[in-house]
Amino acid sequence: MVIVLIYNKWNVFDKMATISFNPQLCTRCGICTKVCPVGLILPEGEDGMPFMPDAMDDSCMKCGACESFCPTGAISPIFCTTHSLVSAPIIQDIDPDKLGSYMRMRRSIRNYKDELVDKKTIENILGIVRYAPSGINKQPVHWLVIHDPVEVRKIASLVIDWMREFSESEQEHPMKPVMLSMISAYEMGADPICRGAPHLAIAHSLDDGMSYTDCIIALSWFELAAPAFGIGACWAGFLKVAATSYQPLVDELGLPEGHIMQHAMMFGYPEYKIHNIPGRESARTTWK
Ligand SMILES: Cc1cc2nc3c(=O)[nH]c(=O)nc-3n(C[C@H](O)[C@H](O)[C@H](O)COP(=O)(O)O)c2cc1C
Repeated sequence: MVIVLIYNKWNVFDKMATISFNPQLCTRCGICTKVCPVGLILPEGEDGMPFMPDAMDDSCMKCGACESFCPTGAISPIFCTTHSLVSAPIIQDIDPDKLGSYMRMRRSIRNYKDELVDKKTIENILGIVRYAPSGINKQPVHWLVIHDPVEVRKIASLVIDWMREFSESEQEHPMKPVMLSMISAYEMGADPICRGAPHLAIAHSLDDGMSYTDCIIALSWFELAAPAFGIGACWAGFLKVAATSYQPLVDELGLPEGHIMQHAMMFGYPEYKIHNIPGRESARTTWK
């Protein structure tokens, strides 16, 4: 399979203030509206074009999901990139260019097909992931795979319950305003916690103060290996936070005695293909 890398067709070399949409290329398919993780892209502006109101500028986290999933390259890159991918690679022979493309192509997936991943495939991924490095090769990572989508929905609802409790409490947290909007999105039928994913991969270990990093590395490997199996994943940050303190959720997970959830990911078959790789900050490196 051929990997085609093209230079940034927008010829933009500085950070842009907002994303912009090319009316000639935009087909009004609406995918950008659906994939924006924070719902900043509204579907119907002038001539049926999607648009992002200027007031939303500060809320855009510049993840490039819109750019990535746009099938026609109609969305301007937020950062300068020389890695805009126009055809999806399948890795056969690993060479640095191919590996680099594969790794750069990893994206957080937040839209899933209504299709289960069979257990054998998940085992194959975990069979790769178990080779991830761990401090003094302790290999402390355990997995709880929530395979039943009904159970995933139950877990998402418990995270929302935790948010409701938290937002009514006196406790302060920078994410409190976000929680309120997530609760109302959930009440309107969305799943802002697990994004409608059919499955969850939960890395857990003894609460020994050391294994956290190893679990994070293992989950990173999981996210990186998954696309080779046609699967997409996304970190479940709110689930992780809720699981550290909300007893009904802790009880539902039923982890072994002394274990805690170190982190978790949602995963499943992606609904949309990745067409482009968004740019990122350049590597901030000091040499001595
Ligand atoms: C620790 C961590 C927690 C995250 N939690 C969430 C989450 O709860 N929901 C979500 O939609 N994305 C979550 N993300 C995904 C980030 O928003 C995403 O990685 C970032 O915007 C960059 O986009 P990319 O992964 O496509 O490169 C999380 C990422 C990390 C590393």
